[in-house]
This record gives sequence, C-alpha cells and structure tokens, in this order.
Amino acid sequence: MLKDLVFSNESYFDQILCHFRYLLTLFLLSGYHKNAHHSRMGEIGTIESPGFPNSHYPPNVYVEWQLRADPAHRIRLEFTVLHLEKDCNNDFIKIYDSLVPTEKQVICGYYTPNEQLIYLSSGNVMLVTLVTNREKNFPGFRATYSQVPVKSQECGGKLTGLNGTFTSPGFPSRYPPQIQCIWDIEVPAGKHVKVNFNKFSLHDPKQNSHHCTKDYLEINNNRMCGEKSTNTVHSSRTNQIMVKFYSDMSYVDQGFLAEFKAFEPNDPCPGKFQCDNDVCINPKLKCDGYDDCGDMSDEKNCVCEAFHVKCRNGFCKPKFWHCDGVNDCGDNTDEENCGHCKAGEVACRNGRCVPEYKKCDGHNDCGDGTDESESVVLSCSEYTYKCKNNMCISKQNPQCDGEQDCEDGSDEADCDCGTRPYISSRIVGGEESSEGEWPWQVSLHMKGQGHVCGASVISNLWLVTAAHCVQDTEKFMYSQPDQWEAYLGLHTQGKTSTLTVQKSVKQIISHPEYDPKTYDNDIALMELDSPVNFNQNIWPICLPAATHEFPAGQVVWITGWGATREGGSLASVLQKAEVRIINNTVCSQLMNDEVTPHMICAGVLAGEVDACQGDSGGPMSSVDPNSGRLFLAGVVSWGDGCGRKNRPGVYTRVTKYRSWIREGSGV
Ligand code: ARG
Repeated sequence: MLKDLVFSNESYFDQILCHFRYLLTLFLLSGYHKNAHHSRMGEIGTIESPGFPNSHYPPNVYVEWQLRADPAHRIRLEFTVLHLEKDCNNDFIKIYDSLVPTEKQVICGYYTPNEQLIYLSSGNVMLVTLVTNREKNFPGFRATYSQVPVKSQECGGKLTGLNGTFTSPGFPSRYPPQIQCIWDIEVPAGKHVKVNFNKFSLHDPKQNSHHCTKDYLEINNNRMCGEKSTNTVHSSRTNQIMVKFYSDMSYVDQGFLAEFKAFEPNDPCPGKFQCDNDVCINPKLKCDGYDDCGDMSDEKNCVCEAFHVKCRNGFCKPKFWHCDGVNDCGDNTDEENCGHCKAGEVACRNGRCVPEYKKCDGHNDCGDGTDESESVVLSCSEYTYKCKNNMCISKQNPQCDGEQDCEDGSDEADCDCGTRPYISSRIVGGEESSEGEWPWQVSLHMKGQGHVCGASVISNLWLVTAAHCVQDTEKFMYSQPDQWEAYLGLHTQGKTSTLTVQKSVKQIISHPEYDPKTYDNDIALMELDSPVNFNQNIWPICLPAATHEFPAGQVVWITGWGATREGGSLASVLQKAEVRIINNTVCSQLMNDEVTPHMICAGVLAGEVDACQGDSGGPMSSVDPNSGRLFLAGVVSWGDGCGRKNRPGVYTRVTKYRSWIREGSGV
C-alpha cells in the first residue's frame, strides 16, 4: 500500500531533478526548434519529425509544436507513422495537455499502423515535443492534427431500451485527460441488466490495477482499471446500473467499448456462473482453486475433492500446492503441518516459525526479517538476495522491481531487459502470439534442416538454449557452431522482415554436467558471431537471480514453433500458451520421480496445454508481478508426450544456473 503511494507521487526533489535534467538536455542540444500551428475548422494539418520521410531524425534536437484550436474545440492528434528508438530515456515524444510542459504523456518506440494512435486534448491546446539524443536515430514520425468540437455531452447520460453500446469518449482514439462521464442505464422494469466489455484498456504506468486511483471505470461500486480480457461481464440485480468513467490529468489510454443487455432475472448468467460481484464466468472455473471472479466467490462453499486441500475458510486448493511455501488458502491452512509451522504462526522464509503476534513488533524474530520488513539487511543465506557489494537483503525478488533495495543500487542495475518495447500495445493448446510480443524468442535452424529448437536472447551476443539441442547424433553434428543459424525477431517461419536478424553462431557452451539419460542440467549457451542490434522484435529477457522465487501456482508463458499436438507438425507462426508453475514434489510424483532440483515443472494438469517437440531450448517467461518485467524462469526441456493429463512439461530451472551463465558469457 505504502509502496503505491510513494510510487504515484514523484517527490519534490525528483521534480526538481527532472527539471534540471530537462534544462541540461536543452543546453546540450544541437537543434532547438519551435513551431506554432492554429487548427481551423475542417482543415487537417501535418507535423512530422525533421527530415521525415527522407531521412532519419537528427541527433540532439528538441522540437516543439504548439497546437491551438478554436475555443470549445479539442485538438485531435493522429499518428500515422511512429518509429522512434525504443528507450524512452533516449528519444521520445511528449504530449502535453497544455502549452507548457506540465502533465504529460510520453511515447516512444514503434507502433504498427493497423492500430490507431490518436490523442485528444481536454482543452483547446496541445503541446508536442520531440527530444532525441546523440545515438541511434530512427525514421521518426508523422501525425495529423485537426480540431473537433467539444459536444455539450460527449459521454455519459441516460441509456434505455433492451440493449445498446457505449464507449469512453473518442473511442477508439485515446480518451482525453480530465474527463468524467456517468451513464445511467435502465432497462424495462422486471428485467436485470448486464454490461459486457469488448475492449477495456485503462492502463496507467503509475497505477497498480488493484488500486484504481487514477483513471478508472466504476460499475456497481467496483472500480476497474488496467487491461481486462474481452468479455468481462458485470450484471446488476435490478433494472438499473450506473457506470462512471474518470480520467485524471496524466496518462491516457484507448479506453473501453461496452455493450449493455437486458436479461430475465431468473437467468442472470445464461450458461455461466454468477460471482458475488456479478461477473459471469465459465462454470468449469468454479472450485478449481483459482480466483477467477476476482472476489474469490467462485472458490467459496466448494465441496473439496480428493485432490484438494480443504482450507479452513472453505476454499479448496489443489493438493499440489500443499506446503509449497505459498499461502494459497489465504488463512495459511495449506502451509500448516508441513513439518514446521502450526496454526497461529508465521512461516519465515528461512523455514523458521514465529508466533503471529510477533509480526511487525519491531523485532526480527525470524532472523531473516520476514516478520518485520520487506527488505532488511541481513546475513546472506539461500533465502536472501546478494547485492554486488556482498550485502544481502531479505526482500523477495527485488531485482529490477523499480525500487532500490541494495545500498549500492545493484538490484536495479542491468535492467534493460524483459520488457516488450514496441508493443503499444510449439505449443500444444496455445494460440498465435502477436509480433514483438516475445522479442527474446529465437528460432535455431540447423543448416539443411530448418527450425530445430528455440532459444532466448539474454544479451546482444548471447543466447540460452537447452543442452539436448546441441548434442551430436549419428547423423548430425549439433554441437558444431557452424551448423547453426539463429533467427532473431522472427514471427512466422520462412517470412523474414526488416526486423528479423539472422546470425551465425561462434561458440556453443553446453553444460558440462548435462546428463542425456536424465536431462539433468539441460542448458547451453550460444554466442553469436557478432552483436545484434536490438529492435522492436529483438530484446533480451531478464535472468533471474539465484534466489528469485517462482512459486507454485504462478502463471508463466511458454512460446515456440514446436508441434501443436503430440506427433504433429511444427507451427509456422510463433505460438504462446499460459501455464502454471507446479510444485516440484508433486511434479516428481507425477513424473516417476524423474524431476531433479535443477528442473521446474509447469503445465495444466487437466492436459491439452504444453510445450512439445521443437519448443525445446525456448523460454518459459514469467511476468514479475511487481515490475511487469519478464524473467526467464525455465528452458523447455522434456515431457512425457505432449499435453497429456497429469503430465506437466519439465523445464530447466534457470535460477540454478545464474552463476554458470555469468561465468560462461559474462551476462
Ligand atoms: N524435448 C522436446 C524438444 O526437443 C521438448 C519437449 C517438451 N515436452 C513437453 N511435453 N513439455 O523439443
């Protein structure tokens, strides 16, 4: 909670520092240009980066465009081309909802022209600035501006009838800042009403999607923000529903597209389960151990099955989460009688138990700080994170989470990884990914054979793959670097674009203790023959520290061009699938005791979703819930068939190889 507050309010000092940097930037710039335009009714003007489209934008410039409209009009700015350096610290556009640099929207990177990128001002002015630095210049941007009248009522109001649609103002343009709308929806008496969101994107980088204090939508007193999957449904138990939309001064997003419908009260969620918060979900998700409703109501009053742990609070959780160190029940039932802590005790990360009342009493009772703070400086152990200066902290997964935890800042160094720069937005049972969604994914081709294995980009020179991909067979010399070609930034096999880079391999380092019988230590490093330039489809994934935790039950993503079913053929478009981490003890039981501590399992025990032949060597990517960055949790290694029931996929546990990777590659 406190964390969020600190995060959302830039301190005064930061602001001064920021302003100072801004002035310094201006001072160092070689070009400073100011433009002013007044938009006229019915006219469309164009602004573009210097040199566009004949040359890339120049280095070290500051250009600003002041856009004005007639009173009672908004400026509408539409980007038709946007192709800047990805790193917003280097080259960026800022859009201000005023004529002076105050509240702003920062954009950079690349956007695909089939998406709309339109901004609306709240008043009749807008300021657009472009800042570029010395290195790496890109084609630039072109945008059109025009003025649109502010209607007396642009949003909100009374909606009646049996059904209808409504959207955030300006949709699919980005909604303007500083706007509030209230829709009063009423369907004929006797019926109830539900609202279905076909699109919902109210993302603000300064807001956590659980505490919607900035832009939000409120429905039945539930606030929602962030990104929601299509077909998020809310219903009311009367014939009325009130929907409120609010946008603050800063960041804007595309908004939402909603549909309301009247329904007969005796069947509020036809064919679905109705949650207490009126969300309708697939009935199969009830009592599956996961909070699908968002308010846990689908997990209450469940009759637990044999494969469940019965929590005291009434929830049923999969047995394989028992004693995995994560409080899945919420009341700790699943972590009791694990040979350590009893009811009313707190489990410390170091395995000790301390009485609940000692939590936050100012005394480090656990000895590792778990009971007192998220980040206490401690003596080092396997439960602590080691900073570069050899000090240790107890916070879980502090690496690149946006907060400096180590005194020397080393937990936040080398964090240019694990983001998907340009998204402005084989696998069994998966779906096609979008271009640039997994920019660390590599396709390894064997000369004369095409795609054989996957790999992950960890720096501009090094890839991580599976050792079993680089072992010689009677027919092929897989261990020889000159037999391989690495395709980076590839989306569809056989279809390279300007963003695809093909590289030869200079060196392969297979783990010296790789055991081909057991697949233990199934990891290898590949060095490219020359450094690759990162682009929107090529970007490294973060390597987790040795002590990074990927708890059982956590969602992870697997990607690859492998077979889409057991015994099937390779996929041509990169596939992705969502699976969950499975506790090692349970996994080993399911897999004939063949899972070593160097492996990590993930899958869907019901079957149908898994990695398969051809996915090997590829990443199992895990989104860190604090920073949103992706970490390489595993490398696709082995399985029993593909997508079989109770046969999860087995992956190389990358945390076990953090220092080996550093020794081999320097990364
Ligand atoms: N060993 C396989 C390969 O070479 C990958 C197997 C992964 N299998 C699974 N069911 N998860 O591509």
